Amino acid sequence: MTNRAHRIAVVGAGPAGFYATGHLLDAEPEIEVDLYDRLPTPWGLVRHGVAPDHPKIKAVSRVFEKIADKPGFRMFGNVEIGRDVSHAQLMEHYDGVIYAYGAQADRRMGIPGEDLPGSLPATAFVAWYNGHPDFYNLDPNLQIERAVVIGNGNVAVDVARMMALAPEELAPTDTGDHAIEIFNASTLQDIVIAGRRGPLQAAYTNPELLELGELQIADVIVRPEDAKLDPISQAALADASQPDQRNVEVVQEYAQRARTDKPRTVTLRYLLSPLEIRGDGRVEEIVMVKNRLELSDDGSVRAVATDETETIPCGLVLRSVGYRGLPVEGVPFDEKRCVIPHADGRALGADGKPVTGVYCTGWIKRGPSGVIGTNKKCGVETADALLEDLHAGRLHTPTDASLVAVERLIADHRPEAVEYAHWVDIDAHERERGDATGRPRIKICSWEDLLAKR
Ligand SMILES: Cc1cc2nc3c(=O)[nH]c(=O)nc-3n(C[C@H](O)[C@H](O)[C@H](O)COP(=O)(O)OP(=O)(O)OC[C@H]3O[C@@H](n4cnc5c(N)ncnc54)[C@H](O)[C@@H]3O)c2cc1C
Ligand SMILES: NC(=O)c1ccc[n+]([C@@H]2O[C@H](COP(=O)([O-])OP(=O)(O)OC[C@H]3O[C@@H](n4cnc5c(N)ncnc54)[C@H](OP(=O)(O)O)[C@@H]3O)[C@@H](O)[C@H]2O)c1
Repeated sequence: MTNRAHRIAVVGAGPAGFYATGHLLDAEPEIEVDLYDRLPTPWGLVRHGVAPDHPKIKAVSRVFEKIADKPGFRMFGNVEIGRDVSHAQLMEHYDGVIYAYGAQADRRMGIPGEDLPGSLPATAFVAWYNGHPDFYNLDPNLQIERAVVIGNGNVAVDVARMMALAPEELAPTDTGDHAIEIFNASTLQDIVIAGRRGPLQAAYTNPELLELGELQIADVIVRPEDAKLDPISQAALADASQPDQRNVEVVQEYAQRARTDKPRTVTLRYLLSPLEIRGDGRVEEIVMVKNRLELSDDGSVRAVATDETETIPCGLVLRSVGYRGLPVEGVPFDEKRCVIPHADGRALGADGKPVTGVYCTGWIKRGPSGVIGTNKKCGVETADALLEDLHAGRLHTPTDASLVAVERLIADHRPEAVEYAHWVDIDAHERERGDATGRPRIKICSWEDLLAKR
């Protein structure tokens, strides 16, 4: 081992990247961590995913701020690895690289009409209302009567709820101003959430489902036939997990509720799969096929299409069927699962053996599921694998890991890079603007404004 501090690059300043970084910075011997992000702002989906009406969850960023205060921390924002700086270049300058760059794309449904104007991935819609600079000018048309959200996960519930909020519910949030304007002018009357399986198989969690029943200007609607379990679910109910049983209870309670005079509805539908999105130049309707459930050999419950179809008129389809990880050139990638293949966080090459000095954590390691806290255990596992390799003398040997060489790399390949201090200025500015109106922050959303000096 040399006397100099070991230098590690972590790619992605979301929860997984921060948790791994925090663990490395607390370790012996001394480690310096350069945290890279393609955005000038840190926190990943905590800033650009978590729903703005859930400020307590966004407050986890305080944990990340404490990590950023630790000696040895440095952030290079506005640097995309694979575009501005390559994997090979990182390997020349670091003892190890941890990839924590999340899942940046959406899963496709593979049906006709998927790309008609008015059919959007929830990934883009979420990024739009959260003021992500690549999406803030998405400009979705909410001058419509009905939106259909495909999928039964927490993201589906988030996007449906955001469309159902009253102006007074949106006002105290950090939803981008551009989005508040469009939400408040919305003429939406009905938001349908369509799951391909039944209420017992839904992926959303109890608090999120319960929130739909407490909206100020929207009733939650479940038709009695949708609340009634199919025979497979009925047989599985007694052995189901407590939260899954509770989801069924809540859906059945919703089915008992009478419609009030609230102007909007959020309608929960089940056993429906999308077949085709249709319209003349833009979305006008979605054709769904009715499913029945079947037990697979491995015990899982799968949806099987029947002959019965249903056409739902709508002006917007939000496809909320999951996020998808993307490859970075030179880094191992499992094309099928869209993750970096790994063993305990050590990236595995095509030969199935660990690639020296390359690690992964978070959604690009596990796939796009799990809450913020899941990434803590995941980040620590990966950082521990790296530390074990360091102590065993198995870390990678870079060509030149001096501070000066790293600075030259950035100056040569991404002179527009910004450091953490730049974010601290943005953060202070956003919070200051928010203070005046009782909001946590008013977000700066365009690339130009994010990169401008304050
Ligand atoms: C819409 C939505 C709402 C959610 N709400 C909640 C919630 O309320 N509560 C909860 O506990 N969990 C929630 N989650 C889950 C939680 O956000 C994730 O578990 C977590 O963010 C995953 O962390 P990550 O670090 O792996 O990825 P991310 O948070 O996606 O961070 C990845 C980072 O990598 C950067 N990056 C990407 N590519 C590159 C590259 N090539 N070079 C450099 N940087 C790159 C990105 O800009 C990003 O900052 C939500 C998820 C979504 C999608
Ligand atoms: N408040 C929170 O804590 C919060 C908020 C948002 C997100 N998150 C977390 O973030 C992660 C990602 O959430 P997510 O909602 O994107 O993913 P998810 O939980 O995996 O849900 C995806 C949904 O899409 C459905 N689906 C997949 N392919 C489909 C297809 N071709 N046609 C129809 N439906 C299809 C799935 O149905 P099947 O089950 O039938 O496959 C499932 O209902 C989750 O772990 C979630 O809990 C948490």
